[in-house]
Amino acid sequence: MASDDRAKLMDSLKANRRSARGRSASAATRPQTTSPKRKVFDFKELPQVKQLQMHRAAADMMGIENPFFRPHDGLAVETSVIGGQTYDNFASYNYLGLNGHPRVNAAAKAAVDQYGTSVSASRIVAGERPFHNELESALASIHGVESAIVMVSGHATNVTTIGHLMHKGDLVLTDSFVHNSIAEGVRLSGATRMNFPHDDLDALEKMLADHRHKFDKVLIAVEGLYSMDGDFPDLRKLVKLKQAYDVWLMVDEAHSIGVLGKTGHGISEHFGIDPTEVEIWMGTLSKTFSSCGGYIAGSKVLCDYLKVSAPGFVFSVGLSPALAGSAIASAEMLKQEPERVERLQKNGSLFLKLAKEAGLNTGPSTGYAVVPVIVGDSAGAAMLSNRLLAKGINALPIIFPAVPEKSARIRFFITSEHTEEQIIRAVETTAAELDAMRADGTAVDRLIKASR
Ligand SMILES: Cc1ncc(COP(=O)(O)O)c(C=O)c1O
Repeated sequence: MASDDRAKLMDSLKANRRSARGRSASAATRPQTTSPKRKVFDFKELPQVKQLQMHRAAADMMGIENPFFRPHDGLAVETSVIGGQTYDNFASYNYLGLNGHPRVNAAAKAAVDQYGTSVSASRIVAGERPFHNELESALASIHGVESAIVMVSGHATNVTTIGHLMHKGDLVLTDSFVHNSIAEGVRLSGATRMNFPHDDLDALEKMLADHRHKFDKVLIAVEGLYSMDGDFPDLRKLVKLKQAYDVWLMVDEAHSIGVLGKTGHGISEHFGIDPTEVEIWMGTLSKTFSSCGGYIAGSKVLCDYLKVSAPGFVFSVGLSPALAGSAIASAEMLKQEPERVERLQKNGSLFLKLAKEAGLNTGPSTGYAVVPVIVGDSAGAAMLSNRLLAKGINALPIIFPAVPEKSARIRFFITSEHTEEQIIRAVETTAAELDAMRADGTAVDRLIKASR
């Protein structure tokens, strides 16, 4: 090859190499656009976000103020101060009035003084503190079982426990109204989930008869008191079913501990059932126990196993001193002052009786701590909540998707601390405001009026 030709070839090879290097460098820095239609990533573009914005715009058009996230100025028990004004409060799970009680506050402060504000790591590595075992013993004793394990969130307790115990090839049968944390736990576990219609234990029995044999482990998960409706399942029948079909039973007592049973020891006390007949008791510390966190109570073998293997326990920090201190004091007070439970039950049944007499739709509520007033559409429930606030009553709406659209409601949480006068006023005002609102027409009527 002539030297001229060789020089040309070398130049062309170098140019090719340079352009290849340029191509790969710009490919690495340039965003990989496979389609010219691809949108820039933006949360605003999420269909769910857009839907929320549409709901908010419709509510604004109808003049409905957002009733959620109302800021409270201080402690919420039977009354609460919102924006400097005192309201009768029916929106807190402070069932026995223990949150804010001087003895509970003092226990939380003493725990902080002795141990600080955090245990700083998982109990496995950071080590135990005496209050962890003290609280677990108190909870096991209230539930009437061998042992308990405390975790930092009620929601996470359900997710990690179910997610860890159940697997693909297993079946979880859930009441259709169970809490989201149970549903999330099943999803995580990979087990098959089948819903039975709310409180329909005949339907549950049929499902067991039809499907039990196809699965390895089977768990029935129910609540001790349903937080949206204030009713509870027939524990006697559930225990018979679980024995007949050789399955595990889990009862979430978030809303029934401190509420059901003569001394507030929950649904097993209410039915006079031996608590060891239920494999897994679950509860939260955020309601009756005026703290924050969750727990499983049951056999020692179950709790010991979860303590060394449940991811939400092993890989999460231990309960903090203040939270354990307040829960221990609340558990002691539940035992020492059963009259609080009696007052709560009396208040709940008075509320239900008056609401029924006033013609309000209280659904299947049994008058234990939770009484819904079913309104119908979500906009109507939000409007009623705002009208009640204007009359000095704080009670929040539960709207779609937490409940089906047609059964949006105002949910009243009753406490041992409400007075008879407060209950009478709440029911009378609700009935009067609902009548006045219905005279204005349906949500669609209101939207049409607003757009004129
Ligand atoms: C039935 C039920 N289980 C679990 C939880 C979760 O508890 P926490 O809010 O304490 O995390 C709740 C919360 O309200 C609940 O209602």
